[in-house]
Amino acid sequence: MKELERAWRWREERGLFGELQALRVFHGPGEGGKELRAFAIDRFGGHYWVTQWERAAGGGVPAKILDFLRARGAASVVTLSRPEQGVPEEPQVLLGEPPEGRFTVKEPGLKFHVQMLKARHPGLFLDHAPLRQWLFRRARGWRVLNTFSYTGSLSVAAGAGGAAHVTTLDLAKPAIQWAEQNWALNGLASESARFIAGDVFEWLPRLRREGKLFDCVILDPPSFSRGKKGSFSTAKDLKKLHAEAMALLAPGGVLVTSINSAQISWSRYEADVLSAARECRREFEILSRIDLPETFPTRLGSEEDRYLKGWILRARQ
Ligand SMILES: C[S@@+](CC[C@H](N)C(=O)[O-])C[C@H]1O[C@@H](n2cnc3c(N)ncnc32)[C@H](O)[C@@H]1O
Repeated sequence: MKELERAWRWREERGLFGELQALRVFHGPGEGGKELRAFAIDRFGGHYWVTQWERAAGGGVPAKILDFLRARGAASVVTLSRPEQGVPEEPQVLLGEPPEGRFTVKEPGLKFHVQMLKARHPGLFLDHAPLRQWLFRRARGWRVLNTFSYTGSLSVAAGAGGAAHVTTLDLAKPAIQWAEQNWALNGLASESARFIAGDVFEWLPRLRREGKLFDCVILDPPSFSRGKKGSFSTAKDLKKLHAEAMALLAPGGVLVTSINSAQISWSRYEADVLSAARECRREFEILSRIDLPETFPTRLGSEEDRYLKGWILRARQ
């Protein structure tokens, strides 16, 4: 139980627990010993979502996790097994009664709808919390294009931060509907938003033909997906994707690019982005690097556990 307590206390002492806060309270790859290394615990208000990676297979969720969360007043706990390949199963309830439908959680200045049941993900990626705060602080006045938006959390962050207009694009219609719900939840005006259920490889050229330019384009693709325009994979399509996005960037615009892949190295990723920039005759400055946040610690010497990579880039012209 020591490692769970240590992780909890570290966050508590730094004031990371707020009312209805969404927060990773334990990240096994960095904070766990042998038994808990393949587990992560996310808090959504009083409800908890325990992820177990396949590496933990067989054992299920150890009683020490449940005892720990029970002692901290958990209203409910669900768990989801995430295989390294393929689609995970639905979450299983381990404790209490999670809400049937969506409910509201918070990050500073922002609200989101999450869901604990009948979903393969609660609807909010907690590793992108710092990026949401960055957009919230910086997006004032921007025309933003958020692609691979999922439930639109980055759109909401930009909108709540005063963006002039936000276009939100995702292949999955249910994700776009969820994004619209999140936009409304934050009291944002429908006139300053456009929601598109469609394939990036169809829509990026189409937005270009419409003559659109954006002050900020966000790319956050999955490692692999199959859309109407064929399949996408970070292994083969990063250059093409970045070139399409760069063509939509206004002079001096900001490109937020992030991938979620332990297999693609920083240098390989940088080479693809650079090669796209050269093709588009654009130059970029690095404003900051996107990496796992402090609530997702990993062990020194285990670079392969740092799956989240990216940059916030500003076009020089
Ligand atoms: C990793 S999630 C993005 C997370 C999101 N940026 C956030 O912060 O919550 C990937 C999303 O990309 C979408 N997607 C996958 N292939 C796509 C494509 N070809 N065109 C548009 N969206 C796609 C999926 O439906 C999924 O919602």
